[in-house]
Amino acid sequence: GGCNDELGKSCPLSELKSVPGSHMELDELSFSSSHTVLVNVSLFNKDKSLIAQEGRHVWDKNSVKMPYADERILNKPRWETIKKYLHQLATASRVTTEDVENTIKKYNPKYKDQWSFEALHSFFKEKPSCERKTHSHTLSRMAELAIRLPSTCKKNIPLLQHGRNHSITLSQMQIACLLANAFYCTFPHRNATHLQAEYANYPTINFHSLFGKWSDRKRQKLQAIFHYFKEVMGEESKVPRGLVTFSRRHIPDSNLLDWTRRQETLTKLHISSEGTIEKNGQGMLQVDFACSLVGGGVLASGLVQEEILFLMNPELIVARLFTEKLGDTECLKIMGSQQYSEYTGYSDSFAWAGPHEDKTERDEWKRRHRQIVAIDALHFKYPKEQFNMQKVVRELNKAYCGFMGEEDIPSDYYPAVATGNWGCGAFGGDPRLKALIQMMAASVAKRDVAYFTFKDSHLELDLRKIHHFLTRRKVTVGRLYKTLEDFCSALYRNHRETSNLYDFIMRSLTETTSRH
Ligand code: AR6
Repeated sequence: GGCNDELGKSCPLSELKSVPGSHMELDELSFSSSHTVLVNVSLFNKDKSLIAQEGRHVWDKNSVKMPYADERILNKPRWETIKKYLHQLATASRVTTEDVENTIKKYNPKYKDQWSFEALHSFFKEKPSCERKTHSHTLSRMAELAIRLPSTCKKNIPLLQHGRNHSITLSQMQIACLLANAFYCTFPHRNATHLQAEYANYPTINFHSLFGKWSDRKRQKLQAIFHYFKEVMGEESKVPRGLVTFSRRHIPDSNLLDWTRRQETLTKLHISSEGTIEKNGQGMLQVDFACSLVGGGVLASGLVQEEILFLMNPELIVARLFTEKLGDTECLKIMGSQQYSEYTGYSDSFAWAGPHEDKTERDEWKRRHRQIVAIDALHFKYPKEQFNMQKVVRELNKAYCGFMGEEDIPSDYYPAVATGNWGCGAFGGDPRLKALIQMMAASVAKRDVAYFTFKDSHLELDLRKIHHFLTRRKVTVGRLYKTLEDFCSALYRNHRETSNLYDFIMRSLTETTSRH
């Protein structure tokens, strides 16, 4: 292959593995003690039908508390109230945002004076009447969908708790139904956010935070959310009929790698200052630059990589219902989510840019061939903080947890990692250090890397150079690790500049090689 033989040449994207090309055929769908499936598995395996699996709701600390839980448990017939008022919306000829506000406050009386619906009202107010009518209809259909929850999700949904490996597979319409409930703020015990709150260690899921504080960002976010609901409940041909799997993975302390001893050399690298992870890394393992509370500020005002990803693929938002805050050696992998919208811009210039028709093929479990892995980088206030081997090891382990493949799948089938400046925007990381860390983790995980520098052409050139240098000399991950260690101590001893990292690496490795 013509990969990185010459300086200035990058490995072409087409040489990196991606699905469905490098997909290994799956066995029949099955559930196990570490895999909860919310559809009936035998019916699915028979004719791919998506029928809710029977089950019993459990009201305990290991399960999602459903709004329809036994009244005796909740001590008051809250679900009856929810049903009654949402039914009114579902049958109304026209639903206003004032109706939505009043409805939500009926069964969340505690927050009557706290929750603002300013953004939702403004969003509607500025719409031309025909569009307002469409959205009003969508609100009505969403209410209808929300009250179907007891028959749509019958089986208990386990919480993906800290320190556990567990997967949940559910249908796209089950997700839509859960999200309609989140929109209407029906999930019990999920509104308190103080430190001692029962779900303080979980992301928020009820949408009220999206409805307050009007801003340009909210306008664009609401546009994406309304579009999603309109699509999933719209034309018969557009109703999504597939499954999505959410897997939490944890590496226990006893299985952590000793980075100083890794003998792997770097895998292939495609690097480009053009393109994005989601567009150009199709079929690869796409990195979500996550918050430890997955989805970050998607339901509030945040609007960078992760939030944009969640708005374009709203099914990802349901992860917030059951995914406990990620620990240092944990990640969340999502297989099969669908993209519904297009966007332009980024952060303050972000704009919803219309519907996206997702043509991604589905696997044997009717999941779209889209793999996303949420890994949260450390948040650095001062650039120098990150040049510390404890921090480097934390990031190596986090990235490795995200990139490592399934034990029972041969590495020939591992799609490349599609990534970029992970942790280097809101979280203040150094892209040159983080890129090396990600390459080291990917190499040990036996995956190639497609790296998108997001318009940074200097970074593109530097990365190409260092990758070329390291592969030509067959520098191992362990050796590179030790060089990083040397750099960190030199940095603190001699008050060196962090910007010298690559020069330092090339100089010290040239010296060692010529000495032998
Ligand atoms: N493709 C490739 N590169 C991108 C893309 C994209 N689609 N989008 C952004 N970048 P950031 P972080 C580049 O700040 O620092 C959220 O609130 C671009 O250079 O989103 O890990 C989360 O919920 C950008 O500056 O990630 C967390 O709380 C850089 O990637 C927090 O932000 C980093 O993107 C994570 O912050």
